[in-house]
Amino acid sequence: MKKYRLKWFATMTGLFALLAVPVLMVGNVTYAADTNGGAHYAGVSQCKVCHNKPSTGAQYTKWTQMKHAKAYETLKTDKAKAIAEKRGIKVAPNEAPECLKCHVTGYDVKTKSAPDNIKIEDGIQCETCHGPASNHIKDGKTLMFQPNKAGSIDLLAHLQLPTADTCKQCHNPESPTWNPEQFTTKDGKKVGFDFDQAKKIIAHPDPKLDAQKKK
Ligand code: HEC
Ligand code: HEC
Ligand code: HEC
Ligand code: HEC
Repeated sequence: MKKYRLKWFATMTGLFALLAVPVLMVGNVTYAADTNGGAHYAGVSQCKVCHNKPSTGAQYTKWTQMKHAKAYETLKTDKAKAIAEKRGIKVAPNEAPECLKCHVTGYDVKTKSAPDNIKIEDGIQCETCHGPASNHIKDGKTLMFQPNKAGSIDLLAHLQLPTADTCKQCHNPESPTWNPEQFTTKDGKKVGFDFDQAKKIIAHPDPKLDAQKKK
């Protein structure tokens, strides 16, 4: 199991929620340096190169249609401004670390910046959920130029597939627009976040990979 700070933050959020201690959360969604084999963030424009063919699921285009891709733009809306004002935030929400930490990939509230190669305009992009992917890209390129290596390269080796905890870094009551009754579970319970249902809304499967997995 790879260790990454996301998990820690989820656990702490859960703990605080349990104890019902009103604390100011200062955490942010960034990965520890050892994630994905010490990889760094590459940026969504890199993913587009290999992940936009219809035959393998056109993940890039699907992402542009998700609200995640607009998460930064959302902070420029009147609704965002009203939320920030109510909370006494003095700067525009799209410049406020308290908002950016959940609306931009890897945003660090301590340094008040996004990682190198991450454009804040891209909002929540691939590496928020899959982790820094520079090493995965190296693997992908090796395969592209040396197809004979296909058997020895695992394209999942340097990637994360997100769990519910990954999502709950942001999908939690700390979000000013959190709706505790957003989803209805199979047994009729109202919950703020349901991993399986939420995953379906943002689904971007690779039909080829899925066929292989079923074999
Ligand atoms: C040089 C090409 C290349 C680039 C660039 C690339 N990938 Fe991939 N990626 C692949 C290939 C090839 C696969 C295997 C999928 C297949 O065979 O259809 C893959 C698979 C994946 C998978 C699924 C792994 C699995 O087995 O379930 C994820 C997630 C992924 N890539 C994320 C990313 C992200 C995020 C980026 C950008 C930061 C990215 N990739 C950039 C080539 C690339
Ligand atoms: C870094 C923070 C962050 C993480 C991690 C995150 N999200 Fe989100 N998510 C957001 C924000 C912010 C929005 C609202 C974007 C907007 O409306 O501009 C959102 C919106 C959504 C929506 C509604 C969007 C739509 O297209 O209808 C779904 C569903 C969703 N997220 C699912 C997920 C799932 C599933 C995961 C985990 C695999 C996840 N999110 C991880 C921040 C995050
Ligand atoms: C803990 C993570 C988190 C923080 C901090 C956060 N957001 Fe969000 N934001 C989300 C998520 C997740 C969504 C998707 C809806 C939801 O579940 O609340 C969202 C959605 C939104 C939306 C769209 C809501 C809609 O109805 O379309 C606005 C506007 C917004 N956030 C503004 C802000 C502002 C302004 C701040 C800073 C004061 C902020 N957010 C801080 C996670 C966060
Ligand atoms: C909000 C989180 C989130 C974002 C953003 C996101 N993904 Fe994913 N991705 C997921 C989840 C959840 C799955 C399903 C994982 C599983 O099946 O366990 C997935 C699966 C995949 C797969 C494997 C599909 C398969 O059928 O096995 C690929 C490839 C992929 N993502 C690429 C990308 C690329 C490229 C981007 C950006 C353009 C991206 N993802 C953005 C959450 C995300």
